[in-house]
Amino acid sequence: MRESLRSAAWLLRMSWHQHRAKTVASLTLMISGAVAAPLMALSLRWLTNAAVAGDAATAGWAGLAVAASAMGVLTLSHFAHLAYFELSEIDTLTTELRLIALSSGSAGIEHQERAEFADRLTVLQQEVQQIQNGIYAALTLSGLVVAISLTGLLLAMVNPVLLLLPLVAVPPLMAGRRAQLILDRSREEAAADTRLAMHFLRLATSAGPAKELRVFGLQGEILARYRDLWEGVTRRRWRAQIEAMLLRAGGQLVFAAGYVAGVLLVVNDAIGGHRSVGDVVLAITLAAQVNQQVASAVNLLHDMQRIARTHVRFEWLEKYIAEREPKHADNPVPERIASGISFRDVTFRYPGTDRTVLEGVNLTFPAGSTIAIVGENGAGKSTIVKLLCRFYEPTSGRIDVDSADLSRIPLDAWRGRIAAGFQDFARLEFVARRTVGVGDLPFVDDQAAVEAALERAHAGDVIGRLEQGLSTQLGKSHTDGTELSGGQWQKLALGRAMMRELPLLLILDEPTSALDAEAEHNLFERYAEGARRVGRATGGITVLVSHRFSTVRMADQIVVVADGKVAEAGSHAQLMRNRGLYAELYELQASAYE
Ligand SMILES: Nc1ncnc2c1ncn2[C@@H]1O[C@H](COP(=O)(O)OP(=O)(O)OP(=O)(O)O)[C@@H](O)[C@H]1O
Ligand SMILES: [Mg+2]
Repeated sequence: MRESLRSAAWLLRMSWHQHRAKTVASLTLMISGAVAAPLMALSLRWLTNAAVAGDAATAGWAGLAVAASAMGVLTLSHFAHLAYFELSEIDTLTTELRLIALSSGSAGIEHQERAEFADRLTVLQQEVQQIQNGIYAALTLSGLVVAISLTGLLLAMVNPVLLLLPLVAVPPLMAGRRAQLILDRSREEAAADTRLAMHFLRLATSAGPAKELRVFGLQGEILARYRDLWEGVTRRRWRAQIEAMLLRAGGQLVFAAGYVAGVLLVVNDAIGGHRSVGDVVLAITLAAQVNQQVASAVNLLHDMQRIARTHVRFEWLEKYIAEREPKHADNPVPERIASGISFRDVTFRYPGTDRTVLEGVNLTFPAGSTIAIVGENGAGKSTIVKLLCRFYEPTSGRIDVDSADLSRIPLDAWRGRIAAGFQDFARLEFVARRTVGVGDLPFVDDQAAVEAALERAHAGDVIGRLEQGLSTQLGKSHTDGTELSGGQWQKLALGRAMMRELPLLLILDEPTSALDAEAEHNLFERYAEGARRVGRATGGITVLVSHRFSTVRMADQIVVVADGKVAEAGSHAQLMRNRGLYAELYELQASAYE
């Protein structure tokens, strides 16, 4: 319950910061609406006593008071709705913006790559929408707290024993809390299976995998796995629902018994002549209201408990991101690289796993050089790239830029000097010009800069085929969007990587897998010339990951990664002379082309 109230306060505080007048108006209207009910009971007592005494004039006034309070009960909450409706929209938007800022603006990507954290993010993303109901719940709850206090006061005046009525409301509350815990746990337990099921649904409905599904006849397999997963999830959640329902019903029964006893008590007082008929009417009306108040309080506390979970997850994310923000940022990013980038005994394990992915890596990328990284699938090439971009920090050892520790260079400043094309590139569904232009935000809409970048990336042909050229809206999320092939998206991603003209570090992690070997070779031949020019200007380093040895051989230095270690490093000529792993793989691939 404390958590629920804390979350209600969180929402009200957020509303207060967003729109003070609307928050005050909503609260006033909600509280007046809630208090109108006990006031009506009080007016009924007045009316009954006046009627019993035969005092027509007083009864008339009392009748008016009953009518006025009844109107309050019926209408005030609707007026409040007008005030809080917009407030809840604003609060939801604020929370969503915060969620986007937190999960995409953080230093690293661990929370998005690590399955157990990704599950929490999924739940959070689904639950953010509930903030809207949360505002309603928090406002109504505030009104109820005032109304319940007033009701308690009036009941105590009739017979202090009646104060036990709100007390018998405690068992349903406790039962409700326990029930919510059971439901939440079942949801969290189901999150992994739900995520998997959604993966199968996407597989079956998106265009990308459609061809393989048909060729390999995988429809049946996917259907069966999807059905199994959902049946499992539903069974588990159904069991939790039944348990929760029994708990809640049990709690409500305890209250019902208390209510009956309370009413009998006051009727007994009236028969004994200790209380007026008006008091009996007051007690019966109030007791019925307590029932309702408690029922709504229980329901609202349910809602608030769910919001409280969202709140707790949100706080977890905020704390988690804050803890991982780089603590020291006292090395300025260099204007140019003078000597190079060095890995010093770098070891890396993905957080939350025991497998050492990189072990004792020592490497030096000299200023102005082109480096190629080769190795089998899973050898650790992309991991090296992730460390260079600082999506993760080394588990031990350090990376130096010249002699400065990379982890102490301000992250934004470092990223501002990196250009990158990734293996798992993003399909940014913007207008084509922006899809490429965002590679260097100050030039995002600069037609000439975008065209030059596309030219450097050999990707001009993609735009040539679009009906409206660079002004074409891309992507299926837009009704009039043009969808591209995987290779076309990849070429645009490569164009994006070429937007920054003088980066300190250019990373190309298999960004050309969609090109054929010859096109890739030609592209890099031209590209390497450009890279040397950039290298002379800023000492910038180009790191290329590729499986194609014909491209790789152009690099000044080739690093062969095997099982997370550097197996060999040197120029093509040196490595061929060494007759090691590189020479073996090179000859294997060369013979395949003969
Ligand atoms: N986010 C992650 N969490 C845990 N383990 C990971 C993660 N990403 C990669 N790995 C593991 O780290 C190892 C190295 O992966 P990496 O992506 O660096 O390989 P790679 O050399 O780039 O392979 P490929 O040629 O297939 O792109 C692999 O065993 C992989 O399973
Ligand atoms: Mg990779």
